[in-house]
Amino acid sequence: MSRGVFITLEGGDGSGKTTQAERLHEWLAGEGRTIVRTREPGGTDVGIEVREIVLHHRGDIAPRAEALLYAADRAHHIATVVRPALERGDVVIQDRYIDSSVAYQGAGRVLDPDAVRGLSEWATEGLLPDLTILLDLDAAAARGRLDESRTRYDRLEAEASEFHHRVRLAYLALAAAEPDRFLVVDAARPVHEIAAAIRSRVALLL
Ligand code: TYD
Repeated sequence: MSRGVFITLEGGDGSGKTTQAERLHEWLAGEGRTIVRTREPGGTDVGIEVREIVLHHRGDIAPRAEALLYAADRAHHIATVVRPALERGDVVIQDRYIDSSVAYQGAGRVLDPDAVRGLSEWATEGLLPDLTILLDLDAAAARGRLDESRTRYDRLEAEASEFHHRVRLAYLALAAAEPDRFLVVDAARPVHEIAAAIRSRVALLL
């Protein structure tokens, strides 16, 4: 069976995943590859509805319910979009995957990271990326990029920054545990340098 290449991009909010996914897409398209560019949450019609709940529901969502919603989005997305693309031999470039759940629901929401990972592995029947690009950025710098105009943060925002710090540390621990799967890039570097580092690593997979 011909099999494509599954590449995921991870990192905190404001780390530049979308810009780098676009750069990688352009380069691979120029190399003549067929690319499926997708994301979680929200890579399918069902996923768009789930995304609306997890990102915009007013009021609390219990942490375990949140983890299950991301896993539900993922199950449908992998079964209906990603696996068929890989079976066709395409390159899948995806914003966020299982590592987002382990970092955000595990370390951020403080659920058991192994349980969160197990849930996603069940949801996806164990599909792992060939390469995961972690765009690593200090939580404060990411915050600054997201909202350059603010000089002060209220209590909630301060708490959010601690949450993002935990997420960052969790990502770095995931990358250290699976060095063959991860490429960690300093997201504070210029866009073109990051894009070049990503291209060199992806070239090894093709
Ligand atoms: P994203 O689409 O990257 O946000 P945006 O389009 O606004 O840049 O991700 C949405 C949010 O969902 C992001 O804060 C991370 C979070 N998330 C989780 O908490 N767990 C997950 O499993 C995934 C995929 C995302």
